[in-house]
Amino acid sequence: MKTLNVTLKDRRYPIQVGAGALAGAGAFLRKQGFKSAPVVVSNPTVMRLHGKALLASLEGAFGKTPVIKIGDGERFKSHETLLGIYGKMFELRASRGSWILAFGGGVVGDIAGFAAATFMRGIPYAMAPTTLLSQVDSSIGGKTAVNVPQGKNLVGAFYQPSAVLADTEVLKTLPKRELASGLYEVVKYGAICSKGLLGYLEKHLGAILACGARELEHVVLESARIKADVVALDERETGLRTILNYGHTVGHAFEAATHYRKFKHGEGVAWGMVAALRYGREVGLLDEEDAGRLVRIIHGVGKLPPVRNIPFDDVWSALMRDKKFQAGDIRMVLLKGLGEAAIYNGLEREPLRDFLRRFLKES
Ligand SMILES: NC(=O)c1ccc[n+]([C@@H]2O[C@H](COP(=O)([O-])OP(=O)(O)OC[C@H]3O[C@@H](n4cnc5c(N)ncnc54)[C@H](O)[C@@H]3O)[C@@H](O)[C@H]2O)c1
Ligand SMILES: [Zn+2]
Repeated sequence: MKTLNVTLKDRRYPIQVGAGALAGAGAFLRKQGFKSAPVVVSNPTVMRLHGKALLASLEGAFGKTPVIKIGDGERFKSHETLLGIYGKMFELRASRGSWILAFGGGVVGDIAGFAAATFMRGIPYAMAPTTLLSQVDSSIGGKTAVNVPQGKNLVGAFYQPSAVLADTEVLKTLPKRELASGLYEVVKYGAICSKGLLGYLEKHLGAILACGARELEHVVLESARIKADVVALDERETGLRTILNYGHTVGHAFEAATHYRKFKHGEGVAWGMVAALRYGREVGLLDEEDAGRLVRIIHGVGKLPPVRNIPFDDVWSALMRDKKFQAGDIRMVLLKGLGEAAIYNGLEREPLRDFLRRFLKES
């Protein structure tokens, strides 16, 4: 078990990572100063697989612990679900002294975090993320949100948790495609910040995909450390934090152009990274050897659904809806070298357009 601290402007909080962490959840959270049982927000899948382990520990430390279950899936990250959570909290007589424990993947974390940010104008919350993506990404940084008909994550708040508990053991029950999807975000951290992490991935990919305890702990911890460091320097995403969007601009366009049905988020990001690499090569960044090395790592994680048949016009119009591309100022995160990202402003439209058209045909 390892602990990492996230240092924010006015306070810090711990992220505990390791196999079997759930069994110590009660004691860990007590140590963080929580004195009463949380309201656990989760979903039926996660509760069925891992609820017993969590509740045994929480009830040992805090006594009877209520659970609010929400529907499983992105479509439940909605205002309707949020109202349901508030309703149940009132039924439970939750008050300003209550706190929430989000137990699940990014969907549960985002909506439970937003419920905590808004219930009684804000109550504390902690997170026990159960997907690789949520352990390395969504549980760190304090972005909470729900989706609205106008788009994903468009209503929410920056609201930091008091503690995060990432049990890598629970990742064993994750569908393989979900595990791979989270791993592409790990590759992203290596690409933008850590050549060492990329080397580790090359060496231990098999063991990571087989959920080796030591290997999972290492990649979760390293990724969390990188995200926490970046967030600490730029809590509200005004500058540096943008590098975390590496592969995301084009990746989102692939996801949106296929109506979020063809790719898992991480798979979209994987293609977005490959596209950004290839584009970087065209504008004279990165050498072919490094680019090829990263592409091999990405494809080594798993088989990606192809981008070849996605209509170019759909990708382009999705891209042009992106905030970062409006007002004609095209901005992208590109790699200067492996482990070294930079934000490039004022990219030209026509060469990018031409590149993407070819990329879709040739990939
Ligand atoms: N707040 C942020 O900074 C941030 C960052 C990235 C992504 N997100 C959000 O995260 C969400 C995606 O998160 P996700 O990929 O974790 O998806 P998810 O929460 O939908 O989880 C994926 C699936 O895995 C199941 N699951 C969870 N844990 C499991 C386990 N241990 N074993 C078996 N199954 C398990 C879930 O029930 C679900 O069916 C999106 O809504 C995205 O917008 C937020
Ligand atoms: Zn992402």
